[in-house]
Amino acid sequence: MLSLIASFAPPQASSFAGEVDALTLWLVGMCTFFTVLIAAMVVYFSVRYRRRHPDEVGSRFDHSTWLEVVWTSIPLLIVLVTFVWGAKVYFRLYRPPAGAAVYYVTGKQWMWKTQHPTGQREINELHLPVGEPVKLTLTSEDVIHSFFVPAFRAKVDVVPGRYTTMWFTPTKPGRYHLFCAEYCGTEHSRMVGWVTVMERVDYERWLATVPVAVTPAEQGGKLFTDLGCQSCHAEGNKNGPSLRNLFGSKVKLASGGTAVADEDYLHESILDPERKVVAGWRSEMPSFRGRVDEQGILNLISYIKGLTGVESPAKTESAEEQSAAAGSEPR
Ligand code: CUA
Repeated sequence: MLSLIASFAPPQASSFAGEVDALTLWLVGMCTFFTVLIAAMVVYFSVRYRRRHPDEVGSRFDHSTWLEVVWTSIPLLIVLVTFVWGAKVYFRLYRPPAGAAVYYVTGKQWMWKTQHPTGQREINELHLPVGEPVKLTLTSEDVIHSFFVPAFRAKVDVVPGRYTTMWFTPTKPGRYHLFCAEYCGTEHSRMVGWVTVMERVDYERWLATVPVAVTPAEQGGKLFTDLGCQSCHAEGNKNGPSLRNLFGSKVKLASGGTAVADEDYLHESILDPERKVVAGWRSEMPSFRGRVDEQGILNLISYIKGLTGVESPAKTESAEEQSAAAGSEPR
């Protein structure tokens, strides 16, 4: 039975594949069992209790408390099991482990642009090392797309103007289909690609073949200068709030509330700075909408993350360079 199902399903190539398949099998099994049971009983009772004479009258039946308790408690138990099981898988799916390497994905009509923690870029391709947790941070340049790798049982919507994340650990080397699973225009069906999972040594070898000038954080640092951000946000400057240790911290807002300085907050503050003004400052920052694309914003965020030492995407020698350049203590 299981192997029959497996022959129809895509290969199981991530840490979640088994769990998701088991849950799906449970749901399909339950639905099939009750559908067949009910259909068989409808047919059986229709024949067994059919009317044999025109003057026949059915017997009176009021209700049975015992029967009602049974047919209420069994479905309740089944949905509770499904809920608790589903919630457990869901929570695991949405909580990336702290050590996961961060890859960036940008959807654009009609292609997938990906970027490695070490700065390599690809289009409609993503190479990953096997057995290591991967966190994807995804956004869109235009409309809603959906990043779907069936072999990983991983799918997440890619939404313009905000970041979504997903994580998984690829468990089997191979080449797996990547699809866009949200209708996004004429060429939606051709917005496909490949995820290639390789052994660590092969991955390193592959990385070395892709020319990369600088890491995302370094590109962000350059952009930071080019856009003139440092004229207000440089250390010791009195024109704008400091960005040192900003990422992940709680920010007091001029409007009275607080906000957590996560990726979405930084994204919003670059494009719509007047929405969440930091307490003690006036809204003087211009919007950078149209002046920097999603890739650029991701790079800027990488740079700002590097000013804290939290989840610095480049954990190689350049991480030290960044923190040295930024003058911050890595944690
Ligand atoms: Cu992108 Cu469909």
